[in-house]
Amino acid sequence: MQIPGMQPGLLFMEMEKLKMELMNAIAMRQSVRKYNATLVSSEDIDTILQAGCAAPVAGGGHERIHLTVIQNKELLAKIGAATAKAFGNEKFDPFYGAGTFLLVSVKPKESEPNIEIADGACVVENMLLAATGLGLASVYLWSFRWGLKEQPELVDEFGLPEGFVPVSGAVIGYADDTLKERQLALNVSHNIIK
Ligand SMILES: Cc1cc2nc3c(=O)[nH]c(=O)nc-3n(C[C@H](O)[C@H](O)[C@H](O)COP(=O)(O)O)c2cc1C
Repeated sequence: MQIPGMQPGLLFMEMEKLKMELMNAIAMRQSVRKYNATLVSSEDIDTILQAGCAAPVAGGGHERIHLTVIQNKELLAKIGAATAKAFGNEKFDPFYGAGTFLLVSVKPKESEPNIEIADGACVVENMLLAATGLGLASVYLWSFRWGLKEQPELVDEFGLPEGFVPVSGAVIGYADDTLKERQLALNVSHNIIK
């Protein structure tokens, strides 16, 4: 791919820089489970949502994705309390003190059961990487689904379009600790077939 106005010699350097930045974001992304009260700015949220929109979605069906940003303390507390109850641990805070919850909802596809879970996961991962790139802490969330099962009427408070169901989410925010860089490694079972 040639970038308009750029010398061919520079293109390689730009691509190397992009690779470095991307691999750094992948290495720096990590689950953070303790946040301070500082809220993420709307500018950063826009960037993160745009990253979510650029995620791969089965069949290019981006119209089946809906993103909800929840910064409402009362609603977060209600979901948190329902989740704590479902887990049988009243001290459990599924949001870890973060004030910004990004909820991914998807319209399930009748012809392809469960594919909405995969779609939602791709959207969340793109948002986690974008948050990392902005210097924010984050964690993928699934546990809140227990709270929604415990108290299904909470879903009505999300203002979702008809037919959409919450599938996954993430919190983003600021941690008091700095993120630790991790060494990338091929550390899961694998094989190569040539
Ligand atoms: C599908 C999925 C669901 C997850 N749900 C939660 C969750 O509800 N709460 C949580 O604290 N972490 C959750 N995580 C984060 C994982 O525990 C975490 O990614 C894993 O332990 C690896 O750590 P790392 O993210 O720091 O690399 C989830 C991750 C995935 C992929």
